[in-house]
Amino acid sequence: MVAGHTLGFSKKAPPDTGAFSFIYPPTKDNLTYFASLLKEGGLVAIPTETVYGLAAKATDIAACQTVFTIKGRPLIDPLIVHVDGPEMAAKLAEWNDRADCLAKAFWPGPLSIILRKKPCIPDIVTAGLDTVAIRCPRHPDTLSLITEVGTGLAAPSANPFGYISPSRAKHVADSFGERVPYIIDGGSCEIGLESTVLDLSDNTTISVLRPGAISAEAISDVLKEPVLSTTKQIKDLPLSSPGTLLSHYSPTTPLELFSGIPPTASATEAVIFLKAPQNRLGNGQTFWFSESGEAEEIARTLFDLLRKLDRAGFTRIYCEIPAAPAVGLMLAIRDRLTRAAAK
Ligand code: TXA
Ligand code: MG
Repeated sequence: MVAGHTLGFSKKAPPDTGAFSFIYPPTKDNLTYFASLLKEGGLVAIPTETVYGLAAKATDIAACQTVFTIKGRPLIDPLIVHVDGPEMAAKLAEWNDRADCLAKAFWPGPLSIILRKKPCIPDIVTAGLDTVAIRCPRHPDTLSLITEVGTGLAAPSANPFGYISPSRAKHVADSFGERVPYIIDGGSCEIGLESTVLDLSDNTTISVLRPGAISAEAISDVLKEPVLSTTKQIKDLPLSSPGTLLSHYSPTTPLELFSGIPPTASATEAVIFLKAPQNRLGNGQTFWFSESGEAEEIARTLFDLLRKLDRAGFTRIYCEIPAAPAVGLMLAIRDRLTRAAAK
């Protein structure tokens, strides 16, 4: 089967051999097929506006277990459950007025809201916590898929644990090959960085556990309440949000960050700038995330360029980091680069 063909409705459509033949276009028939596969406990890699996710039906313990196994993810790191809207969310978690207010402002979109979970969410999804992170992704094909499955999809980013997140369907195939035989091609991710994770489970403090495209300030404006931003840099598990582990999103090639004056690189080293540089130093090969230096463009290309350079055989990658204090999406970019460079 080649991309462009539909799978047809069959329980055992095997992936064809050959490069990327397991990346399927989001035709109506394919989505129906993948919905049935998910309902039966299968796994499908799904596009979202942030990054690609590796999805399983959230109420299926065995399927969620397989997600952890394929990713090599520790069982103490909980998954985000993806829904098609507040109504589905309210079946899975203790929905409240604040969540409703935020959903009206930001869903579908890159905001994961942590709430008290309902009993139908198995412990494996939440790593035994009594809270669950829920979000409604802004990708039409994935929204249709969730509606067709009829319940939430637990989906971490579709990368091996600790490696750079996937912002293209091809990234998922590159990392997992035949271990993830079904990938829905939803194009390049609109945002390119993972969602903001917001803890709403505690009545007294509201805090951002992971910065993303929706800033603590924007959330605070909607709720008209203070919102803490806790970009912790903690080195060891267990954590309240293990994705806040310092080392994460890391390429295999040694990565060093700089701000201001660029390093003098050798011929085997790469230098990445946030925006197209005026001039370069040394013999290293020069790259940039964005022509303009706009945060949106940097976010969209960040994981793709890091992945490309990680495969290109450089002995070291130097990467420019936004200056502190960063806000909004620049804060998320700073956060991901800091983690990617952490040992
Ligand atoms: O944009 C995204 O959020 C992507 C796409 C696929 O939706 N997903 C994603 O999932 O980034 P993952 O598993 O790579 O990151 C989920 C983060 C982790 O930091 C995890 O610890 C945190 O959310 N998390 C999930 N449930 C939690 C909970 N109940 N309490 C605290 N943190 C939680
Ligand atoms: Mg992840």
